[in-house]
Amino acid sequence: MKDFITLSDWASEELWQLIQLAVELKHEWRTGGNKPVLKDKILGMVFQKPSLRTRVSFEVGMKHLGGHAIMLGPDEIGLGKRESIADVARVLSGYVQGIMARVFDHYHVEELAKWANVPVINGLSDAEHPCQALGDLLTIYEQFGRLEGLKIAYVGDGNNVASSLAQAAGHFGMHFAIASPAGYSLSEDAFEEARPFAEASGATFEMFHEPQAAVKDADVLYTDTWVSMGQEAEYEQREAAFAGYQINSDLLRQAKREAIVLHCLPAHRGQEITDDVADGKQSAIFPQAENRLHIQKAILVKLMS
Ligand code: CP
Ligand code: NVA
Repeated sequence: MKDFITLSDWASEELWQLIQLAVELKHEWRTGGNKPVLKDKILGMVFQKPSLRTRVSFEVGMKHLGGHAIMLGPDEIGLGKRESIADVARVLSGYVQGIMARVFDHYHVEELAKWANVPVINGLSDAEHPCQALGDLLTIYEQFGRLEGLKIAYVGDGNNVASSLAQAAGHFGMHFAIASPAGYSLSEDAFEEARPFAEASGATFEMFHEPQAAVKDADVLYTDTWVSMGQEAEYEQREAAFAGYQINSDLLRQAKREAIVLHCLPAHRGQEITDDVADGKQSAIFPQAENRLHIQKAILVKLMS
């Protein structure tokens, strides 16, 4: 039984198969609907944090595939508070055929996977957001017809989204450049996880403080919030540290002419991205959001059918 906790648990070839399956399921959905390959299967969705995309796309994805999803919010099961994670995992395993969890501490989703007898999917932890990154590869692949050799420039916090994106790039021979203010760089651990795949695929990693240095010759510009869920107490300090780490039209002009702009959303317009860029010709943020549905269907089919 396999889990989907981090992209470094999966071989590059397996991830490529998931992207191909997502392309097929997207086409199938748009031309009459998906086959009910998850008929009567139930996904338990454990959320310790808010969500729009992850929550809705997993639930809708299960429905399109003939199954169901149950929402288990923070007030309902109190993961690790009302009951230990090990007990929650074993109890849920008797009721549902898969668990998707959004947690604070990454260790919590690992602990769920350790104890559950059904597949566990990481729907975001403080450390990683693998469903997002794989969906982003689908979007990039659709836009360019390839992945290898493309350059992604990430401007902003070296957070969960950046970490999974670096791993994703590492699997597929992409060039990943990140610009973050001092003190907010991507951790060495994130690169370490990605390095074995990167060595095999020819991917490269670069870290900068200057956004202009990272975006030079980029095919994809990417950003995320300055203040992730759980960091609200650091709001003012982060707002000051990240001033200037914004994807705006001036920065976009310094990338390749045909570059696209991605953002995992939710966006904080006027902070990490401007309205004109988010809503401009080069933005692919809404197709990107839709692709969460298609990539997660592929993950669900692979793990639960
Ligand atoms: N991008 C993303 O995961 O969005 P939600 O937090 O709304 O699920
Ligand atoms: N880095 C953000 C991503 C939200 C989808 C957060 O963790 O809040």
